[in-house]
Amino acid sequence: MSLPSRVQLIDVGPRDGLQNEKQPVPAAVKIALVHRLQAAGLTEIEVTSFVSPKWVPQMADNAEVMAGIQRQAGVRYSVLTPNLQGFEAALKTRPDEIVVFGAASEAFSQKNINCSIAESIERFAPVVQAALAAGIAVRGAMSCTVGCPYEGDVAPERVAYLAGLMKQIGVQRVDMADTIGVGTPLKVQKAIEATLQHFDVDHVCGHFHDTYGQALSNTLAALQMGVWNFQSSVAGLGGCPYAKGATGNVSTEDVVYMLDGMGIATGIDLDMLVDAGAFISDFLGRAPNSNVAKAILNKRAG
Ligand code: HMG
Ligand code: MG
Repeated sequence: MSLPSRVQLIDVGPRDGLQNEKQPVPAAVKIALVHRLQAAGLTEIEVTSFVSPKWVPQMADNAEVMAGIQRQAGVRYSVLTPNLQGFEAALKTRPDEIVVFGAASEAFSQKNINCSIAESIERFAPVVQAALAAGIAVRGAMSCTVGCPYEGDVAPERVAYLAGLMKQIGVQRVDMADTIGVGTPLKVQKAIEATLQHFDVDHVCGHFHDTYGQALSNTLAALQMGVWNFQSSVAGLGGCPYAKGATGNVSTEDVVYMLDGMGIATGIDLDMLVDAGAFISDFLGRAPNSNVAKAILNKRAG
């Protein structure tokens, strides 16, 4: 078994995490979270999304958050852009990478972005072109690659179909997302295999929600296939407002602890990461949704 010696983590907490919070989180808190993540050694942070504020009110302060960040050299700041309107607003805030986001299931595409898979690709194509012309990197998120809250199981063929479309329009790398955290290792490996029909392993990221507690196992299953890019969320924040009942991404703390224990480098300081998670969890008025963070905080308290 050959495992990667290094893993690149993208913390999606400020975006995927906070988009799901009912209580308003002030821009200053979001900015402080980003600062704490970069101080802990995160070199990729998904900061916000340029979506309709009617659909996701929590992300309405996108431009303010992007403007407030003190950027650190070597850190990549990404934002979600579902259409040209979102891209044009995002462009003014100088993101390093934009993310178009589609789904392997038709029903989720309709519920999340109000169009079919084919229509979504038509909308994304000019966004991708404009981003690449502006020197901005492009990632494509693929939701529901294992299961869909509306359609149930999703076949790997659907994943391969979407990955092929993403490749055709010029997306540089894709996120294989288990939106509702129903995946188990062999199913996740099949979805990754399907993605690998169109993208090489260096351009596939694992994005695992932890609803059923399988995300770390799924991360290991992906590592065993050579995947070394993953998204995770500090304090396990998150979920998708259009995937009811789905909980947050696997916590960055849990992933870093596992990788540290396996001798796989991440460049992240676990103690400072736990501090970042405690900061946002204190603001939200609850404990971090991370076993590792809870264990470390308990140990410190004891
Ligand atoms: P729509 O209603 O079909 O859009 O929504 P429209 O083009 O018909 O425009 C309707 C109104 O929205 C207009 O305003 C537009 O100006 C406005 P009005 O005239 O009514 O005042 N509008 C926008 N405003 C701001 N920014 C924009 C924008 N576009 C239109 N970019 C739309 C289509 C895509 C906009 C909508 O469905 C939407 O915003 N969806 C976002 C849903 C979302 O953010 N979901 C969560 C992120 S995805 C996720 O979490 C999954 C992921 O983590 C991976 C995984 O786990 O699976 C990535
Ligand atoms: Mg997600």
